[in-house]
Amino acid sequence: MPRSNTQVLLAARPTGWVTEECFRVVEIDAPTPNDGEVLVENRWLSLDPYMRGRMSDAKSYAAKVELGAPMVGSTVGVVLESRAPAGSGLAPGDWVVGAFGWQSLGVAKPGALRKVDVTRVPPQAYLGVVGMPGVTAFVGLYDLAEPKEGETVIVSAASGAVGGVVGQLAKLRGCRAVGIAGGREKCDYAVRELGFDACVDHRAPDFEAQLAAATPSGIDVDFENVGGPVMDAIFRRLNPFARVSLCGLVSQYNATTPYGVTNFHQLLVNRVQLQGFIVSDHLDRWPEALATLGRLVVEGKLKWRESIAEGLAAAPRAFVGMLRGENLGKQLVRIGA
Ligand SMILES: NC(=O)c1ccc[n+]([C@@H]2O[C@H](COP(=O)([O-])OP(=O)(O)OC[C@H]3O[C@@H](n4cnc5c(N)ncnc54)[C@H](OP(=O)(O)O)[C@@H]3O)[C@@H](O)[C@H]2O)c1
Repeated sequence: MPRSNTQVLLAARPTGWVTEECFRVVEIDAPTPNDGEVLVENRWLSLDPYMRGRMSDAKSYAAKVELGAPMVGSTVGVVLESRAPAGSGLAPGDWVVGAFGWQSLGVAKPGALRKVDVTRVPPQAYLGVVGMPGVTAFVGLYDLAEPKEGETVIVSAASGAVGGVVGQLAKLRGCRAVGIAGGREKCDYAVRELGFDACVDHRAPDFEAQLAAATPSGIDVDFENVGGPVMDAIFRRLNPFARVSLCGLVSQYNATTPYGVTNFHQLLVNRVQLQGFIVSDHLDRWPEALATLGRLVVEGKLKWRESIAEGLAAAPRAFVGMLRGENLGKQLVRIGA
């Protein structure tokens, strides 16, 4: 059994851009499970943009991380020891998804964990395409925006964990899928590997002209991940009765001055339906979404890429890098062998 637990703590609340100095890595004694609990060795940690919000004092939909406490986050790992009842369904060697945060070990009751089958899907995919980001894409696109065959769907952060699934689900519905991503490499990946019809580089000097060329019939669905000037440019091209699934505003998470949208009136004149959503409000939809995404992965119809940081000490650097757009695909931390 491991003797120590590596944790990454919130050391300081960022003002503006988060830095590596906001985190501290510590080694503490390994936890021991009480009666009814299991001990889990976390193998993979998911890094997600929402974690930036948890580092802040500002009022939000979820509780902030306290200073000196481990950062929150989803993990996938292996049960090392079980003191859970025999009927709990968990035994040593089982793979489980948990919310243990940025640490190498954790104890929990079985009810707080989801056992996963890693025989046909790699374990870390349960943090991405068949995990929370995949469900976010499914709910935000299919349930909320209800795209119809032939419509144009646009998604920002298109090569990322959520955006990559959105584009592929849009194609499976018979839509024109257009991505927006930072840089040529990401755009090429979205088109050549994920099957988007087009992808526009938001860093290109002629971004707006490229966006117009990629959306000749306007935009019917905006799966909005980014906000700021990218969203403003999208708003200018919305069609009458377009739908905006407002999933994230990652361009604003480190901003000290919020971006002022100039094309807000387009929502009125085009009678646009805008729906902000948080995937954890849609727990009733998770079973169907996960089953569908898992089937698509096994059938080879959903593809993804991963950016992997090695070890928890590398997590702060990878987290800052993800918010700066340095990741391609799902950002993960590999915790152990
Ligand atoms: N509502 C929900 O329940 C829910 C659940 C999950 C995720 N989300 C949101 O979904 C979005 C995507 O999350 P993810 O996990 O898939 O992350 P991700 O796309 O894998 O990584 C974040 C990406 O954001 C892009 N970005 C950062 N700053 C930007 C800027 N100023 N302008 C344009 N793009 C910028 C970068 O991509 P480029 O280099 O391509 O620009 C970066 O790679 C985030 O906004 C997140 O908060 C919401």
